Amino acid sequence: MKLWGGRMSKETDELLQRLNASLPFDIRLYREDIRGSQAWARALAQAGVLSQPEAQALVEGLAQVLQEFEAGDFQPAPGDEDIHTAVERRLTELIGPVAGKLHTGRSRNDQVATDFRLWVMRACDDLQGDVQDLAQALLERAEEHLEAPMPGYTHLQRAQPITWGHWMLSHFWPLLRDRGRLRQARTAAGVLPLGSGALAGTSYPIDRQALARELGFDSVSSNSIDAVSDRDFALQFLFACALLGVHLSRLAEQMILFSSAEFGFVELDDAYSTGSSLMPQKKNPDPLELARGKVGRLVGHLSGLLTTLKGLPSAYDKDLQEDKEPLFDAYDTLRALLPVLAGLLRTLQVHPGRMAAALDPAMLATDLADYLVGKGIPFRQAHELVGRAVRLAEARGAGIHELELPALREISAAFDEDVARVFDVEAALARRGAEGGTAPEAVRRQLQAARRALAG
Ligand code: ARG
Repeated sequence: MKLWGGRMSKETDELLQRLNASLPFDIRLYREDIRGSQAWARALAQAGVLSQPEAQALVEGLAQVLQEFEAGDFQPAPGDEDIHTAVERRLTELIGPVAGKLHTGRSRNDQVATDFRLWVMRACDDLQGDVQDLAQALLERAEEHLEAPMPGYTHLQRAQPITWGHWMLSHFWPLLRDRGRLRQARTAAGVLPLGSGALAGTSYPIDRQALARELGFDSVSSNSIDAVSDRDFALQFLFACALLGVHLSRLAEQMILFSSAEFGFVELDDAYSTGSSLMPQKKNPDPLELARGKVGRLVGHLSGLLTTLKGLPSAYDKDLQEDKEPLFDAYDTLRALLPVLAGLLRTLQVHPGRMAAALDPAMLATDLADYLVGKGIPFRQAHELVGRAVRLAEARGAGIHELELPALREISAAFDEDVARVFDVEAALARRGAEGGTAPEAVRRQLQAARRALAG
């Protein structure tokens, strides 16, 4: 059964048929397609286009088709071009010619946009759940060694002491924003296109608001031409996925470093590590590398669909059939990845001793400058003076904290006996107590805020 055979004098070329077919991937939309069609049948009855018994026959027949899909009994036929054709073909086999009334006033253009939006709404909900759980795992593991000091890095060079909790939470907030972007993508998808026809609108008095409510949409589209061609929601979904992937990749990259023997800050559980086929001693962080590696396809899907959409003339064009696979793959990729990362974090061994051992007194050079500021020296000048002290210590092969007072006083008379107190990591951490800082007290408040945000 073809939905458009009447006007052709020949069979479609077989290779074109294969190229044109989208059933191999849009079969995933069977639930949404059937739900949308049931709602459409009811709306047609409501509008007086179908009789109640006709609508009922359609709704019940569609329920039977759904059952076949769910039971794995659905058999695609060679002519099934896409999910819409397949469902209607099977419906016709089941209930006879009345099935031919279902497509009254509707086009596959508004139908596929409706199906796809329904799918994206659910996908956003699913991914939000996974992101939520990963963020929860980060919170748990942040809390455990909340106040453990560790080196903080900029340019991957030791910069200033921070706490483990602070570092872990620095990966929590991006995930929370990702959750927000998934919510926004869901909102963008929640506009009903059904009732737009092929492009000009439907010729029947359909109550689109009621249709939207029945299908769980927040509103209805305002312009039928826009409605059948708008894929902004798909791009917003892909952007949310790509950026989420970027965040996962950054977390993964640093975890890979931290789990190396050179750092040794963390150790992956054996259940979340893999081995080498050649080197018996190896324990590899494959899940983290996959997190880093899979971002390539997520970003690729976004730029791919952006490119597909660029330059499309008005309303529906077949190019739009290319919209689904990138989203399906982005969804599958993240749904496979996110729970593994949550498990990896929950079983991760953290080694506060190794982190503390990596703290280097030179990381307190800023605090030494602040000490001079406390003695009335302008910060710029203090920075310069401490720089000289660092150079002197380096030349002697000593730590900056090992310079005796006379040597320091030669650099600046402002140095005094109390300078020794600067080289206390705990005190340095505690000083950074302003909101968002690394002081244990501030991090405790941050943790509370994170908990509240996650619950919201
Ligand atoms: N399989 C098509 C898609 O995914 C359905 C819409 C077909 N519309 C059309 N005018 N040929 O986009």
